[in-house]
Amino acid sequence: MNEIKRLQSLQSRVHGWGVDGVLLFSMPTIRYLTGFTGSEGVLYAGADAAILLVDGRYTTQAGDEFASGEVREFSDRPEAIAELVSGCEAKRVGFESSALYYDSYAQLSDRMPGVTMKAFSDELNTLRIRKDEEEIATLRRAAEIAGNALAFLLEMIQPDMVERDIAFLLESAMRERGADRPSFDTIIASGRATAMPHAKPRRKKIERGDCLVIDYGAAYEGYNSDETCTFIVGKPTAEQREAYTAVKDAHDRAIDAVKAGVPASEIDRVARAAIEEKGFGRYFSHGTGHGVGLEVHEPPRLSKKSADLLEAGMVVTVEPGVYIPGRWGIRIEDMVVVRENGCEVLTTTSKELTVL
Ligand code: GLY
Ligand code: MN
Ligand code: MN
Repeated sequence: MNEIKRLQSLQSRVHGWGVDGVLLFSMPTIRYLTGFTGSEGVLYAGADAAILLVDGRYTTQAGDEFASGEVREFSDRPEAIAELVSGCEAKRVGFESSALYYDSYAQLSDRMPGVTMKAFSDELNTLRIRKDEEEIATLRRAAEIAGNALAFLLEMIQPDMVERDIAFLLESAMRERGADRPSFDTIIASGRATAMPHAKPRRKKIERGDCLVIDYGAAYEGYNSDETCTFIVGKPTAEQREAYTAVKDAHDRAIDAVKAGVPASEIDRVARAAIEEKGFGRYFSHGTGHGVGLEVHEPPRLSKKSADLLEAGMVVTVEPGVYIPGRWGIRIEDMVVVRENGCEVLTTTSKELTVL
């Protein structure tokens, strides 16, 4: 089982980080290390011990899913953690600082007066950053399920349909094809709403002349796909065509630049330069992409200020966009696997300009 290897690999590193063990709180990472899929739990990983704490709702499930490990039930979380740490005779404990509320941290440190707590952020936040081939196959499947559902939707979509109804149809089609659920709230935006990168579907009909942004994904066995297509309903204006070409060009050049060893900020620079060249630079208001896996947004970041370096096995989105406030917006997003000499695109829908 991959989880056992991952957990053992983490356990072998804790002494090197200057602590006796680490406490993890984020559920995607706990799932990655143990297989446990519940909504709450705490994992302690010491050099010689790995213990999963869960509340009474999850005792049986955690025992099944983390069959090779030790599961303990808690009723008072800070008390159980303090007891566990003292039982392991740990004096220096690292914790996943991005996943622990300050109040919980304060309660915990009150209960462990003799223990030094050390915040770990990057070390733990990047545990899942490179995907193995099994994870990549799962992400590929998630992207295929989503893409097949969109292909089905495109057969029936027409002007006069309501944004919320389109979202419902697409989400149902993904589930029918095997998705556990949508990866995130589906974005269906038409007309002026397309100028907002994360618009919510409204009770509004799509109209001729609209841009139509569909940003959607399927969650499959815990892994999430993420893809955006922008369509034009009816005849595109010259300006819409120009902006689409600029975004598509940025997307294509950025994808061509993705390979192991390239700084993530370089991908953002390439995409941004293509959009700036066409005069739409001030309308590209977000980063070019993000890692995706057990979470929809996870490291690395593909942005101007990112210090991340692309490595083989990372799965990232490439999603340049142009948003003209009050008028319309265009985004094109694909999800790709970084390989030694380039990248593999996992999302399946053509990104050529499509008129509906
Ligand atoms: N669907 C959210 C995003 O593209 O980042
Ligand atoms: Mn998206
Ligand atoms: Mn995205």
